[in-house]
Amino acid sequence: MDDFKRREFIKLSALGFAGIALQLNAVSAYAQSANAHLGKWSKNTALNWDAFLERLTHLAQTQHQPKWNQKQYTQQVKQLLLQCNFPEFENIKREIESYEDKTPNWFEAASLHREVDFQVSLFQFEKGEYIPHHDHPDMTGVINVVSGSALAKNYSLEEQLSASREVVKNGRREVLQKCTIREVGNEVIERGDVSILTADEGNIHSIMPNEFTQLVDVFTPAYTADTKSIWYTVDEDGYYNGRKNVFEAEYLNKGLSKIDTVKLSRKKLNQYVGSYRMNNGGFLRVFRYGKAIGMERTASLDTPGMKMNLVPYDQNKFWVEDQDIRCVFDGDGSGKSGSLTLYISEVSISARRVK
Ligand SMILES: [Fe+2]
Repeated sequence: MDDFKRREFIKLSALGFAGIALQLNAVSAYAQSANAHLGKWSKNTALNWDAFLERLTHLAQTQHQPKWNQKQYTQQVKQLLLQCNFPEFENIKREIESYEDKTPNWFEAASLHREVDFQVSLFQFEKGEYIPHHDHPDMTGVINVVSGSALAKNYSLEEQLSASREVVKNGRREVLQKCTIREVGNEVIERGDVSILTADEGNIHSIMPNEFTQLVDVFTPAYTADTKSIWYTVDEDGYYNGRKNVFEAEYLNKGLSKIDTVKLSRKKLNQYVGSYRMNNGGFLRVFRYGKAIGMERTASLDTPGMKMNLVPYDQNKFWVEDQDIRCVFDGDGSGKSGSLTLYISEVSISARRVK
């Protein structure tokens, strides 16, 4: 694998992180009660946000039926999305107006609504901020282009291959597993277009915006802490064994990958403990438990967040357990660290100690 492909491959996993980010942003989600349309709903009704949520809540309940028809469901959601003028909705307007490109080389994600059955998110991309191939395990996704345009490619998993190889990277021995995927969609989506994926069709996709682009996505069900998206490096140079639309791909087998850990003294670990403010908003609280440290990402200093373990692979350097995220503390070992940086492939997010 050449360097470029290698880079593409590690480039994320960031959605794992985006998943987390979305979840935590849900603290500030707008959960509004919906009584607007009093059930008077037709295909031509222009919907407001409350009516949209009410209708979506109702539709998303179909996922609990013994035989959920995902094709029908995603078509219904598409229809619903097309009845909404999202930039006019107050909550979305607020997000759009307060937009800043806080994470270079990576899109900005905002959770608009989240509940167990589904979540609605707004993604804003600068030109060149590309989401490489990844999947959405056991989920459907309906994507509405609010502005801009993007090349969207969708694939279905074809076959697991027995071949794999091992690489060592940042103290982690990674097993890269090979598989084949079948391209089922390859189109430029523009304002007003909707792109669909279901659990078994087109579940793997990549999105490459051609310009500044805004997308509203409905995921059903919502991401949870256990959602483990897989990121693929796809050999797009040619078809696999000449089979039309079938490509060879590679992904990290997390179960078989291993971090070579180092031991750090309690005294050393204590130097990392504290609260850090991220330059893209939010806080990271580092805490010690026994002989280890963990990290919690929170919206503000005194709200709870999701806890993650930090696994040391070098002095001042940790992997976030079960994530493709590294956490590197500054410091010369003489005292408390003053900052930390999270590395999500080539995207980095810094945070300064505030407490
Ligand atoms: Fe996606």
